[in-house]
Amino acid sequence: KSANRGAFSGRSAFIFAAIGSAVGLGNIWRFPAVAYDNGGGAFILPYLVALLTAGVPLLFLDYAIGHRWRGSAPLAWRRFRRWAEFIGWWQVLICVIIAVYYALIIAWAMNYTVFSVDTRWGDDPAAFFGSFTQALGGGDVTIAFDYVGPVLLTVALVWIATLVVMTLGVQNGVARTAMIFIPLLVVMFIILVVRAMLLPGAFTGLDAFFRPNWAALLNPGVWVAAYGQIFFSLSVAFGIMLTYASYLKKKTDLTGSGLVVGFSNSAFELLAGIGVFSALGFMAQAQGVEVKDVVDAGIGLAFIAFPAIIGEAPGGALIGVLFFGSLVLAGFTSLISIVEVVVAAFQDKFGLSRVAATLGVGIPLTLVSTILFPTTMGLGLLDTLDNWVNQYGIVGAALVSTIAVTYVARGLPTLRDHLNAKGSFPIGRWWYLCVGLIAPLVLGISLALTTKDLLTAETTYSDYPAWFVFVFGWLMAMALLGVGIVLSLLPWPSRSHLQQLD
Ligand code: PHE
Ligand code: NA
Repeated sequence: KSANRGAFSGRSAFIFAAIGSAVGLGNIWRFPAVAYDNGGGAFILPYLVALLTAGVPLLFLDYAIGHRWRGSAPLAWRRFRRWAEFIGWWQVLICVIIAVYYALIIAWAMNYTVFSVDTRWGDDPAAFFGSFTQALGGGDVTIAFDYVGPVLLTVALVWIATLVVMTLGVQNGVARTAMIFIPLLVVMFIILVVRAMLLPGAFTGLDAFFRPNWAALLNPGVWVAAYGQIFFSLSVAFGIMLTYASYLKKKTDLTGSGLVVGFSNSAFELLAGIGVFSALGFMAQAQGVEVKDVVDAGIGLAFIAFPAIIGEAPGGALIGVLFFGSLVLAGFTSLISIVEVVVAAFQDKFGLSRVAATLGVGIPLTLVSTILFPTTMGLGLLDTLDNWVNQYGIVGAALVSTIAVTYVARGLPTLRDHLNAKGSFPIGRWWYLCVGLIAPLVLGISLALTTKDLLTAETTYSDYPAWFVFVFGWLMAMALLGVGIVLSLLPWPSRSHLQQLD
């Protein structure tokens, strides 16, 4: 009964789609700041350890479950073990939350791409650009539907484009978009990096980025940051790679593909670090300050520092178009992968056609995202949701799934055999150690550390009023749990959906 499920035309379509998902705002916007804050050049060590002991092994786990049990997240988990369906819904609901705010960041980047060639910014582009992302300073959040016109327009555009791609299906929509956008992104980004490296002062920026602070390695927080970056960046434990793998032909080399995806993603992060810090080095020199004074982690790096660079660098408009255009391309292919998880799940569970599932899922997502986010409270919402999703949602889902597979279901040997049957990269017994011990240990420690921070109110969103964090943090988390349980209890459309595929 899986006749109406989509399929990738082949391995390269899958690899492009998977790279499209992995390479996203996290590479360009998040990685450079995280690396800089956590030891600079020394961060390479925890980063590689995290990549090899958790990132790639969990990527293989996602692939194996999706490919062996051939379904969207809830269906594949259900076929794996009847009781595990809720893990799939947990992943689906995380994707719902990410989708509604991820679209806002892409929308900002679209506005900024256009602003780069708009001369209205005069001699203070940062102030001009910033006026459109108003709440950027954080602080007072009030429930207010004060729309920011250009952002409302671009959020709506992002969703229309997403719905079109989803309707076109797995191969013609999802894979084809990645096959066009990813090569374009690589070309644009390489031009940007070369241009940035030629700016005066670029070297000081690179020096600040790569200078190793070895002492940082003694700080457990640095290791947690490395694992967090890897999980987010590789899109593992979200149900994405699982869903994509379910669209592959039975005889596919999963492990070889996984290595290509993993290393392409890391290469893109390194490239982004070089590009971003060259530009920041230029800024520091132009303003006669230290690089560390220009670096404002997180959102600031992309949406405050870059507009300033556009104003000061020779050929600044081109730099702006290349940088923000890259964010749009990278972000859009990731958004598609996030929405695919949701669409595929509803298609499977309710026996819907592709178009019906796209509309059923896409219209509510579009409405929520377009009504709530292009407003002056957009950034506060984004920040709060992002914190919850990253620190609890993803970490929790990954922790539960590794424990469930390893200890409750004792499913690792079957999955390893499945990967090795056609894989070009043989999986040894080390994989059990990574998935069954190292990953849950690190995930458990992260969860404990975040909870400690939360209880001592040292969270990054402590700027926001308590009621806001309560509503969009705790209440949302509870609601998600409830919705997830209800969805798991609903019946499947036909018995054939429950076959064990042995
Ligand atoms: N991996 C993407 C990035 O690095 C982010 C992402 C997260 C994409 C979750 C899809 C799902 O930006
Ligand atoms: Na990434």
